[in-house]
Order: sequence, then C-alpha cells, then structure tokens
Amino acid sequence: MKPLVPLGTLGLSCLPILFSGCSEADDHFVPWRFAHVADIQVGSPRSFRFAPAWNENWRTARGQIIALEPEFLLVGGDLSRDGSIHGFELEAIKADLDSLPFPCHVIPGNMDTGNKHADRQGARGDRDDLLLNVTSEQLEQFSSVFGPLWWSFVQKNLRVSAFCDMIVGSGLPEEAQLWEWLGAQKKAVPAAHHIWMMHYPLFVDRPDEGNWDIADSNHYLDWYFTIDEPGRSRLLQLFIDTRTDRVITGHVHCRKDHHAHGIAFDLAPATCFAQWQDRWPDGDPTLGFYLYTVYSDYIEKTFVPLEKVSSRPGYGPGGHPKPAERDYSRAWEKEGD
Ligand SMILES: [Fe+2]
Repeated sequence: MKPLVPLGTLGLSCLPILFSGCSEADDHFVPWRFAHVADIQVGSPRSFRFAPAWNENWRTARGQIIALEPEFLLVGGDLSRDGSIHGFELEAIKADLDSLPFPCHVIPGNMDTGNKHADRQGARGDRDDLLLNVTSEQLEQFSSVFGPLWWSFVQKNLRVSAFCDMIVGSGLPEEAQLWEWLGAQKKAVPAAHHIWMMHYPLFVDRPDEGNWDIADSNHYLDWYFTIDEPGRSRLLQLFIDTRTDRVITGHVHCRKDHHAHGIAFDLAPATCFAQWQDRWPDGDPTLGFYLYTVYSDYIEKTFVPLEKVSSRPGYGPGGHPKPAERDYSRAWEKEGD
C-alpha cells in the first residue's frame, strides 16, 4: 500500500470536521484520500467571451491535485464557462478530465446546463431569468457527453451520491425520474460514511430560512445561490434518512461551513474567480479546492489554495448576458481557424 503524500511537505494545514459514521476506530484501517473541485469554468477562445486566467487556474489546480494522488476526483459542477450554450466546451473539459491518472465523477452546474428554474423575472435587468431556466435539451446535451445526471457508488468505507440539482423544482420530465431515484437511495447498501454532492447549496444561513424572493434586489443572490422549497426540505429529509455525513456544494465561489441536523454542509471554493465574500463574516473566497482524508471513524477536510492565481486578461461580458449581447466577432479563434 502506497503511503499518503504527507500534507506537511505540501505546506498544507488540516481542518478537522464534524462527522457521523463508525462508532469505533479501526487501528488497522489505512486512511485514503479523494479531492473535490468545483466552479473551474474552463472556457474557449471560440466563444463570445473567454477568460484565459480561469483556464490557467484550472491547470494549476489540476497539477496540484495530481501531486496529492487522490483515489478519485469529484467535480461539483460549472466545469465549463458556457457549456449550456456550446457543446464543444463540454467535450473539451471531458477529454481533459479523462486524461487524469485517477477516476473523475462529475455533476453539472448551471453554467453547464441552465439555471435552477425561476417562475418569474427577477430583480436584475442584466439577465433574463426565465430564458436561463434549464431545459431538457440542455440536460441531454450534458448527459450525451458525461453520462448519467445522478449516480452513487461505494469506495472502501465511503458512499458517494450526487445529482443534477438544477432539476429540482423545474417541473421538467426529468424531475420525477430524479425524485424516484433519490427515494430509492434510502434502500442503498450503507457504508461507514455517506457524502452527497450537488451544485447549489441547500440554504444560505439555515435550512428553515424559507424561500428567498427573486424580485427583491436585496435578496436576488440569496435566491440565485440556493434551492427553493419544497425541494429543500425534501432533500434535507433525504440526507437525514440516508445517514449523510456531509453535503458538498459549489456555485457560490466562497468557502463556508454550515452544520445542521448532524450533517456538515461544505460550501466549496472555486478555482475560476472569487465571489460573495461579504455574505458571511467567516466566508473565505480564496481560490482552491478540498482534499478529504477518509479514516475508519471520521473524515478530515483540508483546504488547498491555488499555488498561483492567473491575472491574464480576456474578453467579453461576465454574468449571464442576454443572447443579443453575445458578440462572436470578438472571438480570438474563429470557425475554421
Ligand atoms: Fe454555478
């Protein structure tokens, strides 16, 4: 058995976490590791916008993850800058992830498919919330490249379950199928530990905070970054029923730890750019990824900051520009180049 790369040699500090799982430690158990990355948003110079710095940040994270020798990598959505529009961006990052020396397990984020569903236009005039709602065609585009939109597997003493949470509350045909699969997970063979991965955090501050109002400019982002009721409570009950240790999410690009109902909610960092750093007093927008070390009776979480953050300039608008604002004449690479 290969020894773990000592974290001390990499200049990393460990952040012990709350856990539930085995009641007794196994002295003979060999600890092992997996990594989690989210919001890498790798883009393309064929697009109406491109941030080469974000691609470079992913290359940096990629090298750091390889050096840590995890048994697998979880990718928690927003793999691409605009995979919801360009299938070629999804294909490019799929080929990149497939060339890693360990397995990758992937769910989409809203930039890869479309956003969680809005039932009306929100407070921001720079985007069309209804037009951004995820569609069945976008889900099909993603799954045609990456495979199933929900999955679960066991590695040693850990079960990992994950799903495309933009579907929750959408009313799309895929939603009934998703809830059926989620319900069936209550009967899955349990492991000592269970983690779930999704893209959107379940809540901002606490599970019972209620729905945020998309039309309230003071709370648009609270709405944008979380799961609406009744899906939130239904998912929370599922996590409780499936003896979940932790739920790992992305989307906000700011690290924040929550604990509720005996479950750790890890709001994970991004590698592309920082965001929402003022939302919590203890939020940390430093770019990087998580490394998890799995022991017999607990899981240890380590934040790994990017060794280098690129500032290379690109072009095009940020956010969710309306279709008329997508100017492909600015692309650094044109069709046929
Ligand atoms: Fe996102």
